Amino acid sequence: VLMLWVMGGLRHVTAPAAIGGPFQLTDQTGQTVTDKSMQGRPSLIFFGFTHCPDVCPTTLFEISEVLKAMGEDGDRVNAYYISVDPERDTQAAMKEYLSSFDPRLKGLTGNAEEIAKVLSEYRVYAKKVPLKDGDYTMDHTALIYLMDRDGKFVSPFNINRKPEDAASDLKPYL
Ligand code: NI
Repeated sequence: VLMLWVMGGLRHVTAPAAIGGPFQLTDQTGQTVTDKSMQGRPSLIFFGFTHCPDVCPTTLFEISEVLKAMGEDGDRVNAYYISVDPERDTQAAMKEYLSSFDPRLKGLTGNAEEIAKVLSEYRVYAKKVPLKDGDYTMDHTALIYLMDRDGKFVSPFNINRKPEDAASDLKPYL
């Protein structure tokens, strides 16, 4: 959390910059998703990578539970999982990975440049960390961003509670 604000502060010393901005990415079905796609519905946005051992799968499970707890209203929420690891997170990898979670979750990926742009706009910290076997993992911001119907950042969204409680918190933004 600290990193998010520190990075913003470095780039904009006099006034805090808005979180978010224009992007164009591709979901796991090959559909183009842009910032314009967010309009008219609240969005939960989480950044991660499919090789993530624990934080990402846990969070995606929890988001799935919140969508379920919302019932049909869950159809009126954008839930985006945006890759911080475009090198490995191809559209096919996203499709395979997200088959374990709520089908309303969209896994967004793109080329290195497209991902770098969205990470910068959302002030997401993501860093490649080499592993001993030549493989690598990613350190990354694990916040869930709540954006309103106009695509404006509201606050980090707390998922560490009962899905019903998180769902009732989300409903006023529909
Ligand atoms: Ni992760």
